[in-house]
This record gives sequence, C-alpha cells and structure tokens, in this order.
Amino acid sequence: MQAALFPIREIIRDLPASRIAEVSAVGFGNPEIIPLWYGEGDLPTPDFISAAATAAMAAGETFYTYKAGLPELRATIGEYLSWLYGREIGAERVAVTSSGMTALMLVAQMLIDPGDNFVIVAPIWPNVAAAVTILGGEPRLVSLDPAPGGGWRLDPEKLFAACDSRTRAIFVNSPSNPTGWMISPDEIAALLAFARRRGLWLIADEVYARIVYGNRAAPSFLEQSEPEDRLIVANSFSKAWAMTGWRLGWLTLPPSLLPEIEKLVEFNTSGSPTFLQRAAIVAIRDGEDFVESFAARCRAGRDIAIEGLQACRRVSVARPDGAFYAFLRVEGLTDSVAFAKELLHTAKVGLAPGSAFGPMGEGWLRMCFARDTATVAEAVERLRAVLD
Ligand SMILES: Cc1ncc(COP(=O)(O)O)c(C=O)c1O
Repeated sequence: MQAALFPIREIIRDLPASRIAEVSAVGFGNPEIIPLWYGEGDLPTPDFISAAATAAMAAGETFYTYKAGLPELRATIGEYLSWLYGREIGAERVAVTSSGMTALMLVAQMLIDPGDNFVIVAPIWPNVAAAVTILGGEPRLVSLDPAPGGGWRLDPEKLFAACDSRTRAIFVNSPSNPTGWMISPDEIAALLAFARRRGLWLIADEVYARIVYGNRAAPSFLEQSEPEDRLIVANSFSKAWAMTGWRLGWLTLPPSLLPEIEKLVEFNTSGSPTFLQRAAIVAIRDGEDFVESFAARCRAGRDIAIEGLQACRRVSVARPDGAFYAFLRVEGLTDSVAFAKELLHTAKVGLAPGSAFGPMGEGWLRMCFARDTATVAEAVERLRAVLD
C-alpha cells in the first residue's frame, strides 16, 4: 500500500498490469487446471541447444561481450535469413537482443519522443502498446476486420488513415498473436510503399515467422525491402526453438542504425550472455528438424482445438494459418477477464482474456494449442462442457 505513494512517473503508475497475468494469478500452480494462457509450448529446449550453452559456460565464456551480439551469431542469423527469404541479408543488419520483448523496447526507445504515436495493427500482444506508453508515446490500435467466412482481414486504407504528423511507425505483427492472421505479400508491398512515401518507419514483429501451416515461413517484410528502407524486423529464439526462458532475440535493421542500437543495448542490458549466444548459433545451424517438428506438433494441436471448438454452439473460431493460438469469440460474452477466471473453476482450463489484446478483443478468449494432442483434446472437451 505504502509504495503507491512514492513519487514515480505517472505513466508507470497508471500502466495497467497484464490482464493475462490477472487471470493466471488465480489458477497458477493448480495442478487441476490445464494452463493454456501463455504463449509458449510444453517442450523444453532441445538437449543439443542446452548442451552448447553448458559447454560454453564450462569453457569460461562468462564475460562481458559485444553489445550487438557475437559476430559469429550475427553472421549465422544473417545466413539463416538469407536462406529463408532468398535475399542477401548481411551480419551488418543484425543486432542480437536479450529477448524479442527487449528488441521491441529498444525500438521504442530509439524512435519515440513523448507525444509520438505508433499505429498498430490489432488485436495485438499487450506488451507492444505498453512499450510505446512507457516511452511517453501513444499506441494507436487499428483493428483488423472480420473476414467473410471467418478469420481476419487487414484494411490498409484504415491503417493509413490513422497516421498523422506525429506517427513515427506502423507496427505489424504477423503471424499475429492472438488472431493467427498473416499479412500477404501484396499487403506488405502496399505498406512498404506507403511508409516510403510518408517517411514512416515500419516495425514488423515476426517472432512467429516459422510457426506456419503450409509453408516454411510466413511472408516477411525482409523479402521485399532494401537494406536502407525504414524497416526494423523483430525476431526471437523463444517460439520456434522452444527457448522462451532464455531471453534471446534479434533485430534486423538498416546497417546505419547498428551504432545507435549498440548504444541503447549498452545502457539497457550491456549485451546478451555469451554462453547463451553460443547455443543460439547451434540452435540455428542444427535446429531445422526441431523447428519443423515443432510446427507439425502445433498443427496437430490446432486441428484438434479448432475442430472441437467449432462444434461448440456458443463459439465462433477460425482456423489460423500461423502462430499457435485459437482466438475464439463467445456468444454473449461481455467481460472476458471475469469469464476467463470463471473458466478456471467451471472448466479447469486457463485461457487468456481477449480484452488483454485491445478493446476490440473484448468478447473473445485466446487458447494456446502448442501442446501434445492429448492435452489439447482434454482441454477442448472440458471447454465444450461449458461453452456448448
Ligand atoms: C507478438 C509477440 N512479439 C514478441 C514476443 C516476445 O517474445 P520473447 O520476449 O519471449 O522473445 C511475443 C511473446 O509472446 C509475442 O507474442
């Protein structure tokens, strides 16, 4: 109680706590609940990756290191992106960060003066808007539209109309958390053309680039851009390599921004742990089989989740082409936080409330299906008993 009286920045005091955490706090650690509220799979990091970290630590790689990341890791990421997207992407465009979240925070620190805004395609993972707010900026959420036959559609004109003289960047997360929506190559071209014309930054959050069903990777802004475009792409080791707890990510940006990012890294984390970076090199070099098998596991979970949920009379849900979430609309639902808490008792399943992803998410719930199929099937069965 007392702490609330200390003089801290008003913006921080007013920052809402995560609504996902508000729900998970009620059921956390309860073994009767199937927890599908967070965005992570159930598989531990593959042994060959963990072993590389242990070996690097044992070899004494425990010192301060390069701010933008080990040159070997930056080169490996560059080669990986070049292979994935068929375009030459050099190490001079890559900066390693201590997580995807930190990558986004560094971008916000680099671009936002108080009063600037980011125009953000929503619904969106809440941390993006929070980063903008913390810097004194305005997160301007522009909603995707419901697509005929289910799913979501981007209206680029709506996005462009939301940009004004204080807009610094358009922010797109594709594949999307929570909707699973994926931007098309044509939409990427339209956004790039608009950003070039208006001198705006484009921030692409592509942390789910490899969690796609049908292709090796989702359409990427890196496929159509030039090195000196005002484009920054955020990525992470968390999702595709099952490394959420490692806190490692990277940014792909214009080479001229590298010294700026190095300054910011210095004053935030002073660099990512060397032994983790050594393991990240191994993850990329030897991890393709794992990445593919993880996407296949997510696909099996998706099919069970969507089929089961679509059979519930009160639920509308579309089959996502990317990311690992079912985003479901529940008929008559007006308070998704209260309902998600109720579900902990009635269904014993932990879901994220849709309102966590912006006001347009009210009436919706998010379920992570990156689990073994038996767990997903059991969760769906329990939800069906309440939602049918
Ligand atoms: C859309 C999106 N961006 C970025 C992140 C950040 O991931 P991490 O900080 O684990 O690298 C997440 C994590 O859930 C996410 O969903």
